[in-house]
Amino acid sequence: MSGERTPIVSGNWKMNNNHFEAIQCVQKLAYLLQKEDFEAVEVTVHPPFTDLRSIQTLIDADQLRLKLGAQNCHAEEKGAFTGEVSPAFLAKLGVQYVIVGHSERRELFGETDEFVARKIVAVQRLGMNPIVCVGETLAEREAGVTLDKVRGQVQVALAKRTSEQVKSLVIAYEPIWAIGTGKNATASDAQEVVAAIREEVASVVSRPAAQAVRIQYGGSVKAGTAAEFMRQPDIDGLLVGGASLDPTEFARIVQYRRHAY
Ligand code: PGA
Repeated sequence: MSGERTPIVSGNWKMNNNHFEAIQCVQKLAYLLQKEDFEAVEVTVHPPFTDLRSIQTLIDADQLRLKLGAQNCHAEEKGAFTGEVSPAFLAKLGVQYVIVGHSERRELFGETDEFVARKIVAVQRLGMNPIVCVGETLAEREAGVTLDKVRGQVQVALAKRTSEQVKSLVIAYEPIWAIGTGKNATASDAQEVVAAIREEVASVVSRPAAQAVRIQYGGSVKAGTAAEFMRQPDIDGLLVGGASLDPTEFARIVQYRRHAY
């Protein structure tokens, strides 16, 4: 990672932890992380929607430095969208980061690049920061079209964004074949794709936006692999699924600087 960009490590709990479990998990994490960890790394947690109010209350009451995140939202602020969650409701709950276009949303729930782009606009309109996920399938990797795929996703996602808007968002490069599979991209492969994403931001938006935008790697990150990814010049953070459910493991990932493996 580059010294100019603050590292950001995010825990995506997916559909795990009810609100009681969520409180325990966050309490334990808060106990394990020290002041210097928060000074060095921005840490976000993304519990399921039904946990958000409980975690918001805990963060406020204990003045925790963890930042509250959501895993998804709708692109509209209100209306006839049964079962959906408005980005305005998330903003009201003190949510600061919203994962947008996670590959599970794209693959399992049919979200298109265009719909993801609308969500990015909505999240930023409400003063929150999107974490925009991009990544290739195994078939695409084997066909050698990884860079075309992620560049295309970045183009559509950022087409309607200004330089200033892009500077404040986060992009997560998550190779789909590495998510929840225990396989991860090698750090140098991930660096190559992340560097290509940064170049794409420079050509679609601007060079200053490309220099400022933070790009995470995600896909089976563990405490033992975190430091290696974070050593790469273009990787500014980690989006962690499975390993974020264990507060001890997640804290060690946040503390990647301290643990030499
Ligand atoms: P994983 O998930 O760490 O369990 O592979 C990452 C993600 O989907 O964000």
